[in-house]
Amino acid sequence: MKSDSQELQREFFMSDSDFKTISELAYKYTGIVLGPQKRDMVYGRLARRLRDVGLACVGDYIPLIENDTNGELSKFINAITTNLTSYFREMHHFDFLSEKLIPELIKTNSAGRKIRGWSAGCSTGEEPYSIAITFKESMDLNGWDCKILATDLDSTVLDKGLQGVYGLERIESLKPEIKKKWFLKDQNHPDIVKVKPELQQLIRFKRLNLLENWPMKGPFDFIFCRNVVIYFNAETQAILFDKYANMLKDGGYLIIGHSESLSRNCNRFSSIGKTIYQKIS
Ligand SMILES: C[S@@+](CC[C@H](N)C(=O)[O-])C[C@H]1O[C@@H](n2cnc3c(N)ncnc32)[C@H](O)[C@@H]1O
Repeated sequence: MKSDSQELQREFFMSDSDFKTISELAYKYTGIVLGPQKRDMVYGRLARRLRDVGLACVGDYIPLIENDTNGELSKFINAITTNLTSYFREMHHFDFLSEKLIPELIKTNSAGRKIRGWSAGCSTGEEPYSIAITFKESMDLNGWDCKILATDLDSTVLDKGLQGVYGLERIESLKPEIKKKWFLKDQNHPDIVKVKPELQQLIRFKRLNLLENWPMKGPFDFIFCRNVVIYFNAETQAILFDKYANMLKDGGYLIIGHSESLSRNCNRFSSIGKTIYQKIS
């Protein structure tokens, strides 16, 4: 940990007590736990905000968050969230969709022809678009009412998801036929691509703080909540997993991230594979 005198030599001053207050505010508004090991990361993220608002120390910045001056609370929240994501991240989850979940849904949901999925903590949209591509590649959706809800707390990333515009490097690892089939090129901007409207039509992007009330009713056939609860403490995780169980239909699936686990926190699911869980009826 840096001493206050070391902090004085930095561009912006952040005392131990400032860091503590920032961590408390982050926890209160997002559930994200910022332990001492995150101090440098927090400094880096806040430095950009301080430069923007023209302040020299975190102590002067804190009241802007607390009073939400000029909408600073959501800018602070956007700054402290970690949004790392990619297309077809953790590929085995998409294999599960195409090999097990989708064939199952074609049978179980054939009467109502309705499918509901949720990408909770969708970041810039690569996750819900990967789900949409997998559905389009695995079944004929004609005559089906298939919708994927994509939510995130961070309004900046959500907006990127909604636009569906990505740098070419973001789709570099995809198979050429997938790139060609699902992304549009722009001759005036050769370094970017846009997802095809037919993928966008399957997805509804909405801002949602997982800690607050959930306005949707469900039930969902499946929920992706990957690499989100890793930032929360065990108590918040337990509450969320229980709420996910309430939102899923009986036998619905919850898919979490590679370094996350449900075992100690929730007894409403059975494990059916690596980080894939099924709601117990
Ligand atoms: C690391 S990204 C994961 C993206 C994607 N699910 C994946 O695995 O590739 C975590 C996302 O969770 C979001 N998040 C963090 N706290 C949240 C909260 N309280 N409510 C909703 N989203 C939250 C962040 O904004 C961020 O975009």
